[in-house]
Amino acid sequence: MNNFIFENTTKVYFGKGGVKEYLLSLLKNYGNTVMLAYGGGSIKSNGIYDEVTAILQAAGKTVIEFSGIMSNPTYAKVQEGATLARESNVDFILAVGGGSVIDCCKIVSAQAMLKEDIWEMENFKKTYPQNFIPIGAIVTASGTGAEMNSGAVIKHEDKKIKGALFGAQARFVFLDPTYTMSVPLGQVISGAFDTLSHAMETYFGKPDTNNLSDDINEAVMRSVIRNIRIILKNPESYDARSELMWASSMAENGILKIGKITDFQAHQIEHQLGAYTNCNHGQGLAVIHPVLYRHIYKYGAERFARFAKNVWGISDKATVEQTALAGVEALADFIKEIGLPTSFTEMGISNGSDFRTIADSINITAGCCRKLTHDDIYEILNECI
Ligand code: NZQ
Ligand code: ZN
Repeated sequence: MNNFIFENTTKVYFGKGGVKEYLLSLLKNYGNTVMLAYGGGSIKSNGIYDEVTAILQAAGKTVIEFSGIMSNPTYAKVQEGATLARESNVDFILAVGGGSVIDCCKIVSAQAMLKEDIWEMENFKKTYPQNFIPIGAIVTASGTGAEMNSGAVIKHEDKKIKGALFGAQARFVFLDPTYTMSVPLGQVISGAFDTLSHAMETYFGKPDTNNLSDDINEAVMRSVIRNIRIILKNPESYDARSELMWASSMAENGILKIGKITDFQAHQIEHQLGAYTNCNHGQGLAVIHPVLYRHIYKYGAERFARFAKNVWGISDKATVEQTALAGVEALADFIKEIGLPTSFTEMGISNGSDFRTIADSINITAGCCRKLTHDDIYEILNECI
């Protein structure tokens, strides 16, 4: 196993009723002015907004609302939030939403404390912020695992790049599966597929020798697959929502990555597709993964065969390569079974002409069994149509 240092500083409050029980006392640890950040309004129709604002009121906080954080949050929205936080002397940010709200707040919390532009600073000077407005999160839609790390994915519309920035990590997070009951089923499934994708992007990283992280990872992948099937039959299942919610955090809280270099090539492709089309993250990944894996499985046949056997329960075929391919096809069949799109056309993306530009703008990772070229990615994008 590779050397590692591991710490995760987010305190997790998991389960039904956690916000009511613990939020008030947690808020006492922070200053008087709280930024309440949320998305397009789902928290108003499902009652979460009323519950949270009542607690903020009971805590005697001055509340500054920062709303309208969109899916695939933009850099302009980050700047709007940072200006508001600075002008209002915000002491604490409470992010209530899915990955988009949490990601936006992570970077707002850093940008508000900085004199320079965080995009330029991180991407070109390669220096990272040290001071943050503290943040806490209440997850209302799971999948990204954004709540237990400091990474954020932000879309810079002028530059046409959707890329990673690093900001604050939430001091605490509430994971209440009942809060996810109002999420449309399609979003539940695409979020859960995002979790599966994070697990796969880590599993197919390096080294591909045996280690504990991969053993745990296989359990996470099997759990996500099993619980997606349960939730499709019974969308109200609290247990299945609980399992998916915790799996989402587990896939991105660092535990599966211990001792590994991750791949995340599918994510790099999807993010740039998102920069150009604003597509749904989990859906984009569902289309890309099988196509990408058909391109590379032969170079990592042993690992893909292990995936086939331990995750999909496939028996050995005549050759390792055949077993490996059966695993990739099982993934593709599963995507179809659970109603996720299998082509960009199904997602309403047919602008093949942009693919050369998109392909050339995609970061190449070195984490998997075969390093791609921009021409490979161009081919993959065209096969996704
Ligand atoms: O905006 P509102 O009205 O709240 O509606 C949202 C949004 O339309 C809705 N929603 C959320 N909670 C709900 C609900 N609707 C009903 N009831 C509820 N309880 O769900 C829709 C999607 O929300 P969003 O936050 O955009 O989805 P998700 O959590 O999938 O986040 C996607 C973003 O996260 C990034 C993606 O690239 C994308 O920008 N990612 C962040 C990562 C990270 N920080 O670690 C890793 C991921 O790989 C990913 O890239
Ligand atoms: Zn993802």
